[in-house]
Amino acid sequence: MEIFKKIAPLKAFLKEFRTVGDTIGLVPTMGALHNGHLSLIDTSKSQNSLTVCSIYVNPTQFNNPVDLQKYPRNLEEDVKLLQKVGCDVVFCPSNEEMYTGQASLKFDFGALDKVMEGKFRPGHFSGVALVVSKFFNIVNPDRAYFGQKDWQQFAIIQQVVEELKFGLTLHSVPTLREADGLAMSSRNLRLNEQERLKATIFHQSLLAAQENLRQGRKITDAKKLVEEMIKKVPGVTLEYFEVADSKNLNVLEFVNEAEKPILCIAGYVGDVRLIDNMFLK
Ligand code: PAJ
Repeated sequence: MEIFKKIAPLKAFLKEFRTVGDTIGLVPTMGALHNGHLSLIDTSKSQNSLTVCSIYVNPTQFNNPVDLQKYPRNLEEDVKLLQKVGCDVVFCPSNEEMYTGQASLKFDFGALDKVMEGKFRPGHFSGVALVVSKFFNIVNPDRAYFGQKDWQQFAIIQQVVEELKFGLTLHSVPTLREADGLAMSSRNLRLNEQERLKATIFHQSLLAAQENLRQGRKITDAKKLVEEMIKKVPGVTLEYFEVADSKNLNVLEFVNEAEKPILCIAGYVGDVRLIDNMFLK
């Protein structure tokens, strides 16, 4: 496995590697890798001649400085895991390498980032789009892989790829969960034992809301149900629960307003912010 901290040698390596017919898959991450990340690597490996994983905690996508400071960092462990699953290339740049001075370029996604994550984390998706665009330019992949867990992120990057004419295809990989249903996340590392148990409430309330809506109940009823379930768990707070059109992320009042509705939830366990989602069907 090759490890690069600098852009120029990575680009030279990829240029040398790529001959006619070869494809490159990119898996962008912020490290503290878990099996969810590794399933993206596996998918990329099965579809490409070479897989590049980037590990970079991107400061411009954090609107909360404490969250950035406390974000788990485990580079040594991450490299071992990537080696084990047969990743070909790791790119782990410094801030100086990724940002020369102030990051001034801003993205505006219109309606796409005025709801859910975009509403509660202003500027977050602009930072994500900026860093992911940089990775696309540096690596020039044929395919890039993202998790369904961050569905709004996937929809926004899809818009970036279309508008900026990045010649690559995006792939969404299903959310990997712990045995009790909790969506795997690097942030789970910050939960203590008790919080870890409580965190399953997000998945449980998504399942309950899904069941409710499948039985033909209204979205307002499903919202009430989720609010009540979360309220019962001390130390857990709900930030939002929405049912949205998975294509354009319009928040729905009625499920029949969209072909493929998605249920999205975000909240805190202690001071750790977690998100999850589930398609209605
Ligand atoms: P990070 O949170 O490290 O996630 C990297 C990728 O792993 C994302 O595409 C995310 O959706 C996916 N992922 C996370 N948990 C998952 C799970 N349980 N199952 C399947 N996939 C999962 O998302 C980011 O980093 C950053 O915003 C990034 C795109 C790297 C830009 O900085």
